[in-house]
Amino acid sequence: MLGQVSNCSDGDLPRDTASPCLMNHHPTTSHGPPFTYRLPAADDFRRFLGVASTDKAPPIAAAAATWGRLPPLFSAAAMATELMRAVQYDGYGGGAAALKNGGGLAEYAVGDVKLSAHRPPEVSAAEGAGIPTAGLTALYGFNSVGIKFDGTDKLANILITAASGGIGHYAVQLAKLAGFHVTATCGARNLELVKSLGAEEVLDYKTPEGAGLKSPSGRKYDVVINCAKGIPWSVLKPNLSSRGKVVDIAPTAWDAMTAAVLKTTFSKKRRFPAILAPNQKNLEFMVGLAQEGKLRTVVDSRFPLDKAEDAFSKIMEGHATGKIIVEM
Ligand SMILES: NC(=O)c1ccc[n+]([C@@H]2O[C@H](COP(=O)([O-])OP(=O)(O)OC[C@H]3O[C@@H](n4cnc5c(N)ncnc54)[C@H](OP(=O)(O)O)[C@@H]3O)[C@@H](O)[C@H]2O)c1
Repeated sequence: MLGQVSNCSDGDLPRDTASPCLMNHHPTTSHGPPFTYRLPAADDFRRFLGVASTDKAPPIAAAAATWGRLPPLFSAAAMATELMRAVQYDGYGGGAAALKNGGGLAEYAVGDVKLSAHRPPEVSAAEGAGIPTAGLTALYGFNSVGIKFDGTDKLANILITAASGGIGHYAVQLAKLAGFHVTATCGARNLELVKSLGAEEVLDYKTPEGAGLKSPSGRKYDVVINCAKGIPWSVLKPNLSSRGKVVDIAPTAWDAMTAAVLKTTFSKKRRFPAILAPNQKNLEFMVGLAQEGKLRTVVDSRFPLDKAEDAFSKIMEGHATGKIIVEM
């Protein structure tokens, strides 16, 4: 998945255009509402709306653009709605075309400031761009089976599949930070990288041991963060400890059905589909780790905005090592 970081407001109320802020988002054109937010300077704003003056803009947005700040008593969320209305106005297309499709590849877009976090200078835009979707999904996967990273988690054996991917490489680092024993799977070319992220045991998924998810030290897994697609329950189940849980990050309908059926049986081994529900607390937690140098984003490749299509094609091939970044 793609990510991006925009300059935007610092805190709840936008104040200027220069404060960097990492925004939580769904980054492709077909995944929900637009997500980045900033209050543009008057000139930028007029350019954004594609009009010579702010006369034609919705009144509050026009006032904000003219003053260069929010009208008194006007909340950031209301401003966001107003900007949204502005870009949906006929004739105000300009650079905002992607917004209508809920896209992330726009210089200006509108999102929920409650799902944003300040991006500190220690976290580069490219590094930070991976966190809102891939990083948060990794954290959410752990949260969904009760792992909180608050110092109360019991030590566990963890398996992370597709550990070289966007989500997997964050999951390995999180598991290591919590002190878990980490076994991971990835392709042969990434074995050393995944080890360097903190995995004790790394398996090439194209070998029989890797395909069988067998821990070289004979461990059974308490939790599997399953970022790979299509691993059957018959392969996962024998590798689990007696109460082992599988978190399916890329669940198929069949996986979801297995999960539902398991709930109705006496099986203590379970699987859980996990689809990201982002929240600000988690975003701040992850950004904080990055700021402290405890979490790194492996960048597979970078593309300029006008080559975004190539970036998407590369993502769809499913062979990224870490994150693919589109730079604005
Ligand atoms: N649950 C959610 O909310 C959520 C959110 C975002 C994305 N997703 C989904 O989560 C999945 C993972 O996304 P991602 O961005 O992390 O993937 P990704 O970056 O595309 O993963 C690619 C990496 O995984 C490796 N890999 C592929 N198949 C593997 C296997 N069977 N075993 C071990 N390694 C394997 C590849 O290695 P080679 O190149 O060597 O083959 C490559 O390095 C995707 O299906 C995505 O759509 C879910």
